[in-house]
Amino acid sequence: MRTPFLAGNWKMNLDRRAALDLVAALRERFADRDDVDAAVCPPFVYLAEVVRALDGSPIRVGAQNCCDEESGAFTGEVSAAMLKDIGCDLVILGHSERRHVYGETDELVNRKVHRALATGLDVILCVGETLEEREAGRTEAVVRAQLQGGLEGVDGAAMERVTIAYEPVWAIGTGKVATPEQAGEVHAYLRGLLTGRFSESIAAGVRIQYGGSVKPDNVRELMAVADVDGALVGGAALTPDNFLPILEFDR
Ligand code: 13P
Repeated sequence: MRTPFLAGNWKMNLDRRAALDLVAALRERFADRDDVDAAVCPPFVYLAEVVRALDGSPIRVGAQNCCDEESGAFTGEVSAAMLKDIGCDLVILGHSERRHVYGETDELVNRKVHRALATGLDVILCVGETLEEREAGRTEAVVRAQLQGGLEGVDGAAMERVTIAYEPVWAIGTGKVATPEQAGEVHAYLRGLLTGRFSESIAAGVRIQYGGSVKPDNVRELMAVADVDGALVGGAALTPDNFLPILEFDR
């Protein structure tokens, strides 16, 4: 049985005060719970403070990106080692906004995945099709290329530290959530790909999150779908009023 993993991707939102208020609320609510696997992923500049604010709490802290290179002359980049150094546990890689706004390719995402894993960070690897790709019947081909490309050269043992996030681009920030059937189809397809690439037992242990307009009022039905093992939440992860009921959805 896979424990659901719920993570909040703040993207480029919140200021310092709002960030600390939000994590204080999370810390208080989850002070003595060890049955919830949850993470917040703030912008780089707030990471160190959020790590400190959540010290001793079961809530993990992740970054939204990292550099593929180890160190050196890469102006504006942040290394996986720096993230590890300040106490980050994980990093989101291959988010659709990185792919579509900043042109990240599967090859680059794959180099980042290797760098993060080698540095000791867990990875949330995002995949997902655009509306145009879905309407052209290309959903499976797109997520297959992203999954296989992103995981090229990753061995089965490392998959314990990798979560896959299926985020249909047309559902991100649009309020248009995938139906449980749509999510279920793609999640089952991804699980099958993982089985083919690794083994049935390794694939059975990998959590596949759904992301795209997850809200308190739809989280329960999405999480009830076979092969949906958590959520990567954007807008609704920005306030305790929305994120707490998502974390505490009726399992
Ligand atoms: P929304 O929940 O705002 O649709 O964002 C989803 C997402 O991109 C999380 O990574």
